Amino acid sequence: MDCRTESQRNEVLTHDHVEQLLNMPIGTAWQVLRDIVSQAAQDIMLPKFALNAYQQEVSHKEDDSLVTLADKQMQQRLTETLTSYWPDIPVLGEEQTSQQHASVITYLDSAAWVLDPIDGTGNFAAGIPYFCTSLALVVESKVVLSLVHDPNRDESFFAFQGSGAHLNGQILRPRVMFNNSLNHASALIDFKRLPNNLASILAIDPPYRSQRSFGASALDWCWIAASRCQVYLHGSQMLWDYAAGELILREAGGCSSSFDGKAVFEKSLAPRSVIAAIDPDCYRQWRDWLNGRGDLRLKLEID
Ligand code: IPD
Ligand code: CA
Ligand code: CA
Repeated sequence: MDCRTESQRNEVLTHDHVEQLLNMPIGTAWQVLRDIVSQAAQDIMLPKFALNAYQQEVSHKEDDSLVTLADKQMQQRLTETLTSYWPDIPVLGEEQTSQQHASVITYLDSAAWVLDPIDGTGNFAAGIPYFCTSLALVVESKVVLSLVHDPNRDESFFAFQGSGAHLNGQILRPRVMFNNSLNHASALIDFKRLPNNLASILAIDPPYRSQRSFGASALDWCWIAASRCQVYLHGSQMLWDYAAGELILREAGGCSSSFDGKAVFEKSLAPRSVIAAIDPDCYRQWRDWLNGRGDLRLKLEID
């Protein structure tokens, strides 16, 4: 089963197109991006993380989520470095103002980076080593290339549209676990913004073996891509939470959908509720189980 939508199947931009845009071969771009992101993590993120939870400079955003000085410094450093390499490609970063978001999102029609400077800020600020930087290149409203870097494990996930997903240079291939049956799967579930009825059913009577909730959505997508857990559910993700990770999962052979049955990526600042799985059969079982719960009013068909 090929889980890509019809439009995703028709959308593969050639290597040449993206190589021309970046003015370098894709393999070189991967090395350059990895160096840019991992150097920023070494210089900014990891020293601040080592300060431990009590010395972090933490404040609350309008939506009450946390932001630290490191989020802002990472965004500034990465924006400056990316635009020094590629002055014509603007950066849409999570910590920009909403006015900046509204302005830069229009560039996704041509080309723009989508950046989450620290995904998993709650973990970062609390001293929990599960966070990452997430970077996606969007060209003509499609994610064509992405990098998610986990500085704690020195793991870099990379994908280029149509060319597979890689972890530290090694191609990611889905592992078959227990015949890919949902009732043996480990699930990554973020309960925070799920509808109450769905959260209750999953807590009381889940269809899978066990579940985890780690707290960094971009990394969650990659851990599913690496078959560390098999199925995924998140009630509300922003563009910078899913753009890079979703391509990595798709290129690793996984499947995903929004709750309304559409492709996850949208050129939009509206939150998306998503499901995914590394294996197409397991994805189908997961989707069918959710659809079978009529009380949830979900319609998780891929169009
Ligand atoms: C958050 C994390 C978290 C998810 C939230 C995101 P941030 O991103 O990915 O796992 O549940 O929805 O906002 O704020 O740490 O970049
Ligand atoms: Ca995030
Ligand atoms: Ca963030």
